[in-house]
Parts: sequence; structure tokens; C-alpha cells
Amino acid sequence: MQTYKIAVIAGDGIGPDVIDEGKKVLAGIAEMDGSFKVEFTDFPWGCEYYLREGKMMPEDGLSILKDFDAIYLGAVGYPGVPDDVSLQGLLLKIRKGFDEYINLRPVKLLKGAPCPLKDVKEEDIDMIVVRENSEGEYANVGSRLYPGTEQEIALQTGVFSRKGCERVIRYAYELAKKEGKTLTNVSKANALGYSMVFWNEIFAEVGKEYPEVETSSLMVDAASMFFVKKPARFQIVVTSNLFGDILTDLGAAIAGGMGLAAGANLNPERKFPSMFEPIHGSAPDIAGKGLANPLAAIWSVSQMLDFFGQEAWGKKVIDAIETLLQEKKTLTPDLGGTAKTDEIGEAILEILQR
Ligand code: NAD
Ligand code: IPM
Ligand code: MN
Repeated sequence: MQTYKIAVIAGDGIGPDVIDEGKKVLAGIAEMDGSFKVEFTDFPWGCEYYLREGKMMPEDGLSILKDFDAIYLGAVGYPGVPDDVSLQGLLLKIRKGFDEYINLRPVKLLKGAPCPLKDVKEEDIDMIVVRENSEGEYANVGSRLYPGTEQEIALQTGVFSRKGCERVIRYAYELAKKEGKTLTNVSKANALGYSMVFWNEIFAEVGKEYPEVETSSLMVDAASMFFVKKPARFQIVVTSNLFGDILTDLGAAIAGGMGLAAGANLNPERKFPSMFEPIHGSAPDIAGKGLANPLAAIWSVSQMLDFFGQEAWGKKVIDAIETLLQEKKTLTPDLGGTAKTDEIGEAILEILQR
């Protein structure tokens, strides 16, 4: 029988709370299906580990993770450990180390999810943001010059390689072609005369191979405005690492909140494991109170199932989330309910069993 081996890094703050619910759902699905199993291996890496061991994960962390079918991650970062140390030491190390160069983030208003925008119907917010996930502004190349002087300078260099831009842009064109959707390129070439001019050139070059895909291009500032004013104009969106990070928090805000936004970090060639996570952070303001909404973590289980080729289950999970949202009986406070985090997984399973 097929067994999916999943490395679980629940991480910090609300990470363990939301990941527990995702694990419940995945284990329940495997049991209901009967034709595959899931095997979880938990790794206690994160900020507490750092405070004990002086590092966010062991030196050989990547080789420990290398042979898993997927990584399921909660959140990383907590007051007491500087954010650049915690994130560079774990989450970003995995994304880069496993060349997870595609960050697939659905921005979709599910039936029953709250939306702060006026006169918007569910079908008006239904996009997939394809975020470059391995380089760009996140290459973390730079230096500090003349420290402690009035001339002090911090340099942060964006790295945009031809290979890096081409592969993510091609992935987005392929997705748009496969789904028969439009593709919007989000960049900022008016101010960023090297990186974004290059990015746009590659977008145009690759586009010659996809005459059937209808495209448009927007600056990231205008795109942010249209996310709010006219989200229906977006279907597939491709953008750089930092712009994709920011746009998808905005996407979360218009599509039900941080508790409903998931992301898949994919190595499409499957040379290395891909990683599935909610896009929110460790939410120190609500950690340990049972207030965290685990639906984003559960949505990322749906992405994992799709990735395993279990698309029918992937869809059932999304349908179950929609049912839960519409019934309004078992929702966490961010969605206007009074349920605790640890009631949600069970409620989703109950819907799946109907
Ligand atoms: P955050 O996403 O943790 O929280 C932002 C706001 O959204 C908070 O008010 C929080 O309570 C709310 N929120 C987030 N997730 C929620 C959920 N599931 N249910 C209900 N409410 C939710 O962002 P932040 O405050 O900027 O960052 C906190 C820490 O997390 C920092 O250390 C940051 O670096 C880290 N971070 C990690 C990741 C990750 O591991 N993927 C992502 C973002 C931020
Ligand atoms: C995300 C997060 C990360 C990012 C941080 C925590 C490094 O915000 O996954 O969206 O910027 O990619
Ligand atoms: Mn983010």
C-alpha cells in the first residue's frame, strides 16, 4: 500500500495548534480512503530548539528531510529570537535548500468566507498567485558598510537569474494554459531598472511560446489597488518573491483573512521534497489560547493531497471547508465563531464522513 511519509515541523506560536488539526484531517482521510497511508515524523525545530541548541535545526537538517514525500510546516519565528535568525535558519533554508522555487498561493473567496470588500461575489475572487520562491529580493546578498558611522550603508541586492525568472514564468504560463485562464505579470520596471526590466523581458520572451494565453502586466502598486478595487480581473498572477509575499497577505485579507490562506512550496521536478504551510506566521498575540484558525493549515493539506495525485480528496477538503464556513456552527473567533482551534479538525472530518 502506498505510504506517504510526511516530515512535520510544527514550529512556533500557533504553528503546533494549527498543524495538529491538519494532521487529524489527513490521518482521517487516509483511514476513510483505505488505499493509502500517511506516516508523520515530528521534528521539534524552531525557536525553542534554538534557545536550547543555538540553531534552528540540526546542521544536517536538510539531509534528514531529504527523503520524505512532503514537509508540513506550521510557522516559524517568536519574540526572543530575531526574525532574520529564525526564518533564515529554518523556513527559508528549506525553501532554498530544496529548490522549492514555486510558491503556489490560492487567493480564493470560499462560499461562506467573510469578505471586507463591497459588492463582491465568490467568483470575483478566484486566483492563484505564482510567487518566485528561491531568489529575487530574498537572495539575502548584501553588506553593511562603514558600521557605526554617519556614512553607514546597508546594501541588499536582489538576485534575478535568467534560469530563476524563466522557470517560474514558464510554470505560470503552463498553469494558465492548462486551466484556460488569463495570466497577469506583476512587476515594477519603472523604478527597478535592472531586475524588473529583465523580468519583463523574460515574461515577453517566454510568452511567445504561449500565444493562446491572454496576458496583461501591472506594476505592483497598481496591482495592489486592483486586488481591492477589482479582484475579478486576476486569474493566474506571476510575480517576484517579495511582491508575491506582500500581495498574498493582501489576498488573504480580501479572501477571509490570514486563517484561510494556504501556500505550497514546490520543487516541481520532485528532486527534493516540497513543503506545505499556511502563509500566516506564529501569531504571538493569540498563541496558546485556542484562538488560531487552522483552516489555512487544513487548506494546505488539500494542496498536499493534490501534489500526491489525490486530487479528488484535495477537492473534498476544500468543499468541506466551504460547508463548515456556510454552516457557521464551528468557527474560530476570527470568523465570528466561538469554537477553539482543536474543534475544527474534527468538524471537518465529520463533514467529510457525511
Ligand atoms: P502573523 O501572520 O503571525 O500575524 C498577523 C495577524 O494575523 C495577527 O494579528 C495574528 O493574530 C493574525 N493571525 C495569523 N494567523 C492566524 C490564524 N491562523 N488565525 C487567526 N488569526 C491569525 O504575522 P506577524 O505578526 O507579522 O509575524 C509573527 C511572527 O511570525 C514573526 O516572527 C514572523 O517573522 C513570523 N512569520 C512566519 C511565517 C512562516 O513561518 N511562514 C509567516 C509570516 C510571519
Ligand atoms: C511567508 C512569510 C515568509 C516570507 C517570512 C516569514 C520569511 O512571510 O511565507 O509569507 O516572507 O516568505
Ligand atoms: Mn508573508
